[in-house]
This record gives sequence, C-alpha cells and structure tokens, in this order.
Amino acid sequence: MKTILVVHGPNLNRLGARDAAHYGSATLADLERVAADEAIKNGCAVTTFQSNHEGALIDFLQKESGHAAGIVINPGALTHYSYALHDALVDTRLPVVEVHLSNIEEREEWRAISVIRPACIATITGKKEEGYREAVQLLAKKIAA
Ligand code: DQA
Repeated sequence: MKTILVVHGPNLNRLGARDAAHYGSATLADLERVAADEAIKNGCAVTTFQSNHEGALIDFLQKESGHAAGIVINPGALTHYSYALHDALVDTRLPVVEVHLSNIEEREEWRAISVIRPACIATITGKKEEGYREAVQLLAKKIAA
C-alpha cells in the first residue's frame, strides 16, 4: 500500500484553540483523521507528523520520504520564509500538495507569499478540512497514474 506523509508545521498542534475564524474548529487529530479516511478510500495509507521545529520537519522528510509516495504539508508560518523546508521537499522528489486552512492570499501581505509553493504540484487554501480531503484525492490520483 502506498503511503502519503501528512506533515504539519509550527502552532498547528494548537488547532481547535486557535482563531476559528481563520482556521475553523477542527483539531489536528481531526484533520489527520480526515486525511487518513480519504487515503483509505483511495487505497493508500498515511504517516502523520507535526513539529514546531523547522529542523525536525526536515529530519522527518529526509527519513520518511524514501518509504512514501507523496506528501501533504501545511507548513504553518514556515510557508512564508523557509527556503530550507522548500529545498527538503524538492529533495524528496515526491509529489507535494501544500494545504492551508485559511485563505493566505486574503490576509496580511506577508502571508500571501509562499516560498514552498514552487516545490508543490498544487496549493489548496481557504477550504478548512475539506482542503485535506482534496489534497489526498489529488495525490492518490497522481500516485495511481
Ligand atoms: C496556515 C497559514 C499560515 O500563515 C499560518 O502561519 C498558520 C496556518 C493555514 O493553515 O492557514 O499557522 O498555514
């Protein structure tokens, strides 16, 4: 069975307690369940990981990407400045889908910039948990092709 890595960056362990207007009320566990359920429906499995530390996210990608077929990532605020995370994603040579709960284009000016986007086959923003379902579907299709 093909594995999709579902990766979350800083502060996303606090979902459920963060500003619901931007991020909705689902917890990280809820989002991981949405991704896992969608993966199963599409004949895939997920491995989940969250860290508040850039280096830990990169270590995880380096360690796990050899056993995986695709990546769903919500990098949190690292989205806007982590060239190191961008490079780690490119180095995996896997299809990557970037997901944001909120619509980053319609918030602060600095938030509209994603340095991660060029490493990704798609970016899904502003669809809350539905974005995760779409991301897994998209990857499963790509993996099967
Ligand atoms: C986020 C958007 C980021 O700008 C923010 O720093 C987050 C969450 C989102 O899912 O909308 O932590 O990635």
